[in-house]
Formats: sequence, structure tokens, C-alpha cells
Amino acid sequence: MREVRVWDLLVRVLHWSLVVAVIGAWLTREGEDPRHLQIGYAALAIVALRTGWGFAGPRYARFVDFVRSPRVTVGYLGQVVVHREPHYVGHNPLGRWMILMLLATTAGICITGWLYTTDRFWGVAWVGELHEFLTDVLIVFVILHVTGVVFTSIRQRENLVKAMITGVKKTPGVAKTE
Ligand code: HEM
Ligand code: HEM
Repeated sequence: MREVRVWDLLVRVLHWSLVVAVIGAWLTREGEDPRHLQIGYAALAIVALRTGWGFAGPRYARFVDFVRSPRVTVGYLGQVVVHREPHYVGHNPLGRWMILMLLATTAGICITGWLYTTDRFWGVAWVGELHEFLTDVLIVFVILHVTGVVFTSIRQRENLVKAMITGVKKTPGVAKTE
């Protein structure tokens, strides 16, 4: 086993800030609470920064370095089922798609929320409904995400939540470094 610094400081700070912002936006969702818009805009800023970092950041943060074809992803799922999946230093192929879905859904929630505050779309039912629907989708994705994190942590005997705090992962010599 060797220790590798995988998650840079910005990835970690943005992750936990996004968690706090999404929970904060959820808690302030009713009664036209002004904090809902402020926290929602903060979530949008975090998603925008993380997306920018996905192009400009270091190796394990860059999208081009981590997005794989659906074929590779389904192949990975098959390997998980037969208990032969390789150990990835960065995000595994399933986790990578999960990340994109989490970021895209949060962006969609924030954009529809903002649209609802504009003169053009204020009171337009489908915009408000889409905002709420995407929030329900995000809740499902977050449940899948946390389940995936817990499952992989148990499977690979490594606390991935701790790794998202410290940035360091313990990896076997045979781990896939991509
Ligand atoms: C609103 C809820 C959440 C959202 C939107 C979210 C989003 C994300 C995103 C975008 C990433 C990719 C990190 C990056 O490369 O920048 C990620 C990774 C990660 N998240 Fe979350 N997350 C949420 C909740 C949680 C919670 C509650 C936990 C703790 C159980 C958690 C644990 C992790 C871990 C451990 C990783 C790294 C996974 C790996 O090792 O591949 N997340 N999350
Ligand atoms: C992750 C971020 C966000 C989440 C999870 C979220 C979630 C929600 C939810 C669940 C509701 C429905 C409230 C109810 O039960 O009546 C709501 C309402 C609303 N949100 Fe957001 N929201 C977010 C971001 C934003 C942003 C960025 C804006 C605007 C800048 C915004 C503007 C609004 C408005 C105007 C409403 C009232 C809509 C209506 O009356 O139907 N939200 N939000």
C-alpha cells in the first residue's frame, strides 16, 4: 500500500461547500425565504467553479482524464458484480458519471430557480415545477452517490469520506492510476 495525494484542496473545499449549500437550499425552500436565493446562487457558483476546475485543474480533477465511455462503465459494473473490479486511484468509472449527473442536476436546479425570479418566467408554472422536479432527481442521485461511496469504501476497505477530507488515498501497487 502506498499513500497518494489524490484530491486537491479546491476539490475538497468545493465538495463539502456544495453539500452544505444543497442542504441549506433545501432547508430554506419554503415561504419565499430570501436566504434560499442566496444559498442557491452560492451552489451555482460552486458548480461553476468545479466545472472550470474540471478543465484547468490537476490530473484527478480533470473531466477529460476521468470520463470514460458507457462501454467501459458497464464493463466496470460487470466486474463489480463478479468481484473483480480494479482499484482506481481517482474516481471509478461509475462514480465519474455520477459526478457529472450531480453537477448537471444541481446546475439545472439553480438555473430554473433563477429563471423563476426573472420577469419573463415569474409565475410560469412549468419553470417552478421543473425546479422542484430536478430537486427530487438530485435527492435520488445523492442517495445513489452516498450508497456508492459506502459500498466502495467497504469493498476496498478504505474510508473514502475520510479521503475526501484529507485528500489522501491508500492504494495497492496494482491500482489503476488513471
Ligand atoms: C448534496 C449532496 C452531495 C453532492 C451534490 C455531492 C457531489 C459530489 C461531487 C460533484 C463529487 C466529485 C468530487 C470532485 O471530483 O470534485 C463527489 C465526490 C465524493 N462525495 Fe459527494 N456529494 C454530496 C454528498 C456527499 C455526502 C453526504 C458524502 C458522504 C458520505 C459524500 C462523499 C463523497 C466522496 C467520498 C466522494 C469521492 C468519491 C470517490 O472516492 O470517487 N458526498 N460528490
Ligand atoms: C441546489 C440549489 C437549490 C435547491 C435544492 C432548491 C430547491 C427548491 C425547492 C424544493 C423548492 C420548492 C419549495 C416548495 O416546497 O414550495 C424551491 C423553490 C424555489 N426556489 Fe429553489 N432551489 C435551489 C436553488 C435556487 C436558486 C439558485 C434560485 C434562484 C436564484 C431558486 C429560486 C427558487 C424560487 C423562486 C422558488 C419558489 C418557486 C415556487 O414558488 O414554485 N432556487 N427551490
